Order: sequence, then structure tokens, then C-alpha cells
Amino acid sequence: MNDQAQSLRRLMSMRASSESDPSSGQTRVITVTSGKGGVGKSNFTLNFALALQARGHKVLIFDADMGLANLDTLMGVSPRYNLYHLLKQNKSIQAIIHECYGGLQFIAGGSGVTELLHLSEQELDIFKREIERLNGVVDFIIFDTGAGLSNETLRFILSADETIIVTTPEPPSITDAYAVMKMVKGLGHEVNFRLVVNRATDLREGTQTADKIRMAAHRFLQTDVPALGYVLDDSNVSKAVKMQKPFTVAYPHSSASRSIANIADRFLSGSTSQPSANAGIKGFLYRMFKRVK
Ligand SMILES: Nc1ncnc2c1ncn2[C@@H]1O[C@H](COP(=O)(O)OP(=O)(O)O)[C@@H](O)[C@H]1O
Ligand SMILES: [Mg+2]
Repeated sequence: MNDQAQSLRRLMSMRASSESDPSSGQTRVITVTSGKGGVGKSNFTLNFALALQARGHKVLIFDADMGLANLDTLMGVSPRYNLYHLLKQNKSIQAIIHECYGGLQFIAGGSGVTELLHLSEQELDIFKREIERLNGVVDFIIFDTGAGLSNETLRFILSADETIIVTTPEPPSITDAYAVMKMVKGLGHEVNFRLVVNRATDLREGTQTADKIRMAAHRFLQTDVPALGYVLDDSNVSKAVKMQKPFTVAYPHSSASRSIANIADRFLSGSTSQPSANAGIKGFLYRMFKRVK
């Protein structure tokens, strides 16, 4: 109870930095996904979130990977409650948020992620009400999803304001990243995809990989997939994973950390899109559930 009261106060006293930045003012919802597994989505999500936070933004990361949830392991935390407790056990959004590095907010999806697609009317109302409390409190909500296209992941892709698709330079990873975009396009949906090439050996490999995907998407899917950048392959990532610390915290001067900083700068410099009625948490919830009923 005391815990809850404390986190409620914390949440309410937090002012999203967007309030002082009249150009934004809306929580942006981002999905991170990939075609193939193990390409570095969770490491990217966590460290990218920390980089946005270091640039003055309030960020919440949400582990929406049902099968291989591991954001908690990457940070060495084990939150007591997850989305399941919110949906099924009347826990508030404040109760299931775990505060990590420098105020980074974290929600574990747990088995709640599959439940999301099978909510009763009443549970749905509760979920919407609780999620809407984050509106304007955080600048970014980033969903780390599973690989491949499960129904749940697809729903997050279709509902977010934008989707960052992570690939490595290896052909199977490229093919599967392309397959995700093709599938989404085939369903008749327009999604703002952005590309991150992870584990690139050098600038050249990062650029070439991004170009390959961009050109294929442009030519065969009539889709523009701007690249956000690349993250260099760096043994410090694996070392940090073993230490259960984000690599940008454990090795802030490593080449992988510098890559993440560049991506965050590029991401924020391209974020001048005007707030629209369909964006943000309300738009996300609308798209997430409009096909459920
Ligand atoms: N930039 C990188 N350089 C070196 N190794 C990396 C990098 N990114 C990820 N890895 C390795 O890949 C593993 C899987 O990363 P993870 O983020 O868990 O992938 P996913 O979430 O896509 O399954 C990590 O434990 C790490 O060993
Ligand atoms: Mg993962």
C-alpha cells in the first residue's frame, strides 16, 4: 500500500518533458520488432530508451515479448507485478511500473500480453483507463516485442505511431525483416517503419544492409523505410549482458554505446511531426482494440 502510494505520488509529480517543449506534447508510442529472433531487439530497446532519457525525455519500456521476455534480465531486476496483475488482479498502472536506471520506467508484460487480445469488456475498460494515465506523463512508450509475426506482435506494430525494425547484416535476418514489412503491407496497412541495423562490422556494412532493405521495400512494397542508423558489433554488449547491466551504462564509451547515441540524436532530430488526433496513447488504444470486438 505504502509502495503504491509512493509510486502514485512519483507518477503524478513527474512532468513529461514534452510539457516544456511545445513542439511535441504527446506521448509517442513506438514498437521495436524484428523478423528473426536474437538480433538484439531487447538490448537496442533498453539502451535506446536510456539514450532518449539522457536527452531529457521521460521514457517507459514495456516488455511485450511473451515467449522470451528478457528486459528484466538485461537490467537485473525482477518486478513483483506485471501486466497480468493489472488485467486480472486489479493492480494499478503505478503498481506494475518498475523504476530503473535514472528514472527509466519499466513494465513487464508477462502472460498479460496474450490476455490483451482476449479481454472482457470490463477488463478492456480498466486497461484503457490505466494506460491513459501515462498520457503526457511519459514522452515515449517503447514496446519490445517478440520476433516473427504473432498476433500479439502484429497488433503492436499496427497500433504504434512507428515501428523500429531491427536486423543484423546476415541474410536470414534481412529476409525476415523484409517478410515482416511485406506481411504488414499485404494486410493493407500503412505502418511507419524505421530500420536499425544491429551488429554491423563497420559503417559500410551498416549502410549497405540498410540500402538493400530500403531498395527492396521501395521497389516491391512501395514502402519507404528510412534507416535510423546502425549499431556496431561490439563484444562489450555481451559482457554487459552477462553483468545484467545495459551496455550504455556498463560501457558508456564503447563503440556500441556511441552508435546508440547517434541513433537517438537522429531519431530526435527527425521527430518534428505534428501531433495528430490519431497519434499517441489514445490512437494506440483505438487501433489496438478496434478490431477485437
Ligand atoms: N551490437 C551488438 N554487438 C555484439 N553483440 C550483440 C549486439 N547486440 C546484441 N548482441 C548479442 O545478441 C544477444 C541477443 O540480444 P537480444 O537483445 O536479447 O536479442 P533479441 O531481443 O532480438 O532476442 C545479446 O545477448 C548479445 O550477446
Ligand atoms: Mg528480446
